[in-house]
Amino acid sequence: MSSSSGNITSVLKETRSFPPSQEFSSQAHVKSLAEYEKLWKEAAEEPEKFWAAQADSLSWVKKWDKVLEWKEPHAKWFLGGKLNVSANCLDRHLSGARKNKAAIIWEGEPGDTRVLTYQMLHREVCKFANVLKNIGAKAGDRVTIYLPMVPEAVIAMLACARIGATHSVIFGGFSAEAVADRNNDAGAKILITSDGGWRRGKIIPLKENVDQALAKSKTIEKVVVLKRCANPVTMKEGRDFWWHDLMDKASADCPAEPFDSEHPLFILYTSGSTGKPKGILHTSAGYLLGTSYSHRLVFDLKEEDIFWCTADVGWITGHSYIVYGPLCNGTTVMMYEGAPNHPKEDRFWDIISRYSVSIFYTAPTAIRAFIKWGDQWLNGHDLSSLRLLGTVGEPINPEAWMWYHKKIGASRCPIVDTWWQTETGSIMISPLPGALATKPGSATRPLPGVVAEVVDKQGNRVGDNQGGFLVVKKPWPAMLRTIYGDDARYQEQYWTQVKGFYFTADGARRDEDQYLWIMGRVDDVLNVAGHRLSTMEVESALVNHPQVAEAAVVGKPDEIKGEGISCFVTLKSGNAPTDELKKALRDHVVKEIGALARPDEIRFTESLPKTRSGKIMRRLLRDIAAGKQTLGDTTTLEDYSILAKLRSDEE
Ligand code: WT7
Repeated sequence: MSSSSGNITSVLKETRSFPPSQEFSSQAHVKSLAEYEKLWKEAAEEPEKFWAAQADSLSWVKKWDKVLEWKEPHAKWFLGGKLNVSANCLDRHLSGARKNKAAIIWEGEPGDTRVLTYQMLHREVCKFANVLKNIGAKAGDRVTIYLPMVPEAVIAMLACARIGATHSVIFGGFSAEAVADRNNDAGAKILITSDGGWRRGKIIPLKENVDQALAKSKTIEKVVVLKRCANPVTMKEGRDFWWHDLMDKASADCPAEPFDSEHPLFILYTSGSTGKPKGILHTSAGYLLGTSYSHRLVFDLKEEDIFWCTADVGWITGHSYIVYGPLCNGTTVMMYEGAPNHPKEDRFWDIISRYSVSIFYTAPTAIRAFIKWGDQWLNGHDLSSLRLLGTVGEPINPEAWMWYHKKIGASRCPIVDTWWQTETGSIMISPLPGALATKPGSATRPLPGVVAEVVDKQGNRVGDNQGGFLVVKKPWPAMLRTIYGDDARYQEQYWTQVKGFYFTADGARRDEDQYLWIMGRVDDVLNVAGHRLSTMEVESALVNHPQVAEAAVVGKPDEIKGEGISCFVTLKSGNAPTDELKKALRDHVVKEIGALARPDEIRFTESLPKTRSGKIMRRLLRDIAAGKQTLGDTTTLEDYSILAKLRSDEE
């Protein structure tokens, strides 16, 4: 069945359904559909009462006076309350048996391992918080963190939280240019990096990138460098300091200061549909509540679980489900530094079996890679410790879901398909695994406390099985507060598209069981291997190459990555379209943005299809990139002949 509303068409029809086993439901936090619906209704009827009751799970230095102040589109949660986020993740676990429980079980790519108990992690965080203070960090200062997946990334984040500094973590795969842009936008004063990180047996030269970035980011005063790979680096006297030298001199005594509920916790940059990345700002109490609450319910958390989220801490998934949610809940977190196929394609299964991981949370793009590598990699690995699986980042194809269910979950583990965004801070739509039957490809229903709906452009609820825009109708605690330094853009992007509601920019459909099916982004944003990339950013990178006149970038279906990057490039006259130039342009994009934005294909064209108002018709280019005939409406196309040319110019 196919149905449409505006420009969104829904074609997927999936009828399989998998109820949780009696055994799973009976031990779950939420045990039945009726119980879920009751909770959801209570939360919808009295949201402030509901969230206030949930907020009792946090440790407050001073209780709040008011649960919510909502002046659309600005929310303040738990006004008048004071707490320390790092104390909630650490100190409060030290008074009982959790003190000597593993907080982080870490494995480096070369096979080295470390275990940090809550007590040990607390000590490291206190020391590093003192290091930050000693080099001049104060509450409110911005600190950039550009580290590999090592425990020090978590330590640095929590140390910032402890002293009220706002961290901005930059994924280690981003280039020097991207680091410079983000430093400048945030006005960061301190930067924390390492001599490198291991990835597929090679060293990612993070400090080298930082050196280049710092030539262009003037606000950074001090750099702390962790020694991870014994990789030679240049240290600039007076600016660069070794992590271990500073830690040696730092005291382990750093009492947690209380901060306001709305104190800024972090900025995380994400792609929007215009060139400039958006600095999503999250604050303290609401974010911590949203992440810990969702982590407990969605993953049906038990004290003895070993929870493994495979995301990098440089993405929101890592912030919320490696660091803040799990540690606030006193969970044992598994953390792995490197690639899933190093030294061989069974690395993840090897880790799960050796550490008895019980909850595994990964991305559809990874699952598609596992399928491609073949089932033989599962042989000899005991995955029976697993009891729950999760996915995040993009819609999961039903066939990939079935593979995950059968091969990894032994048809026994529920799968939670979790929909959320950098902006939402925490999981918004997901099955509660003991309560809801799952359907392959559906994130199912909103969590209690989340009022999500599928609407048309006017904000009217569309009928069952009609495509529409996914919106959130009510503020929630972990929502972004603004775009750092650009509140006008915050208002415009999220609160004016569909009046009165938070606009997610995703298309969705609601089926007859009220299950939500996410259909992907409705704007010009790509989703490459579960990471949001702006077509505009890639275009801007191409256009600043001296030989390029104009570029249009679209996604094309890619079996592994979900979307690949297809570029249509017009050269300045006098330049020949050669294979060397294609290669040079690919490298150029990698230099400007990072390897994750490497174009999959580049096609040279004499001109681009445009509307009369000059807007590039990406919809048509998408069809061409996918090798489809263009069936859509082309009545506004300015130069019809271009289409045929583009098709015959294929690589
Ligand atoms: C976009 C947000 C949230 C952490 C990872 C990505 C897509 C995310 C799902 C899902 C279908 C999903 C959406 C969303 N997305 N999870 N379970 N099913 N689509 O964070 O980079 O902020 O991207 O990822 O399109 O808007 P992000």
